[in-house]
Amino acid sequence: MTIQRTAVVGAGTMGNGIAHVLALHGRSVTLIDVDPDALASATDTIAGNLDRQVGKGHIEAEEKSDALDRISTATDVAAGVDDVDLVVEAVPEEKEMKAEIFGALDAHAPEEAVLASNTSSISITWIGAQTERPGQVIGMHFFNPVPVMTLVEVVRGQRTTDATLDAVSGLAEDLDKNPVEVEDYPGFVSNRVLMPMINEAIFCVMEGVAEPDNIDTVMTLGMNHPMGPLTLADFIGLDVCLHILEVLHDELGDDKYRPCPLLRRKVTAGELGRKAGEGFFSYD
Ligand code: CAA
Repeated sequence: MTIQRTAVVGAGTMGNGIAHVLALHGRSVTLIDVDPDALASATDTIAGNLDRQVGKGHIEAEEKSDALDRISTATDVAAGVDDVDLVVEAVPEEKEMKAEIFGALDAHAPEEAVLASNTSSISITWIGAQTERPGQVIGMHFFNPVPVMTLVEVVRGQRTTDATLDAVSGLAEDLDKNPVEVEDYPGFVSNRVLMPMINEAIFCVMEGVAEPDNIDTVMTLGMNHPMGPLTLADFIGLDVCLHILEVLHDELGDDKYRPCPLLRRKVTAGELGRKAGEGFFSYD
């Protein structure tokens, strides 16, 4: 199956990054969000990030304008998906919202279209069960910043077919990404491994083992990580980290995933990381 016409639902950081790479690699993209302001701001962000790539000499100015020409916007799922081969959903991690969106996608997207989710923590099998086409439902988990990070976790739900998996893995390769197939278990591989490290770094802060910048320096200089775990937690969003740890804890039932009380305290206080201007570090 060839994937040429696409739609992305959700114009936040992940949604605009996914639309960016799809358009840059020749796919038409309808970016869908109920909020027109979010669509306008996403289009500006994509243009800015494409400019950055032109400035670095990674792409030509013409590729930038061609990519922007391939992106259209819509505020209504029904209007945006009637002729697509693939939809990637990238809305907040709320099960009710996903159920509603996948119900609408199932009703309005062509019968043969693949419905992918960028979820980092909700079961693909569960999402598939909200539709009449669970064989064509799959996880396509991108990483932030999407134009830069080369991994896509391709998550196979219980009913996902081989044809769907092959189509999505082939698309990820066309986008210059490395698709890695994983099974549908909580946190997949990425967050099951990453979140306990971040959580442990937060326990180190709470217990006074070291100051936050020293904890990060240990991991950047000692382990060659591009960002320390606390900077990365701020980058991802502390509310997102807490949510993923809660899913791991609830669904795997092991105390090793219990969220650190300091993480809960900061989320309750609204110190959500970079997007809030305050997390483990302060941002302008
Ligand atoms: N669009 C296009 N290009 C971008 C970009 C964007 N949004 N953001 C950064 N870049 C480019 C820069 O232009 C720069 O290009 P060159 O290498 O050609 O100079 C390059 O990326 C590096 O950026 P910077 O020089 O600005 O900064 P940096 O070297 O500190 O790198 C970083 C920034 C790429 C974010 C790096 O710090 C990094 O890799 N951090 C870890 C990110 C990470 O782990 N992400 C995964 C989070 S987990 C997740 O997303 C999923 C989940 O489920 C929670």
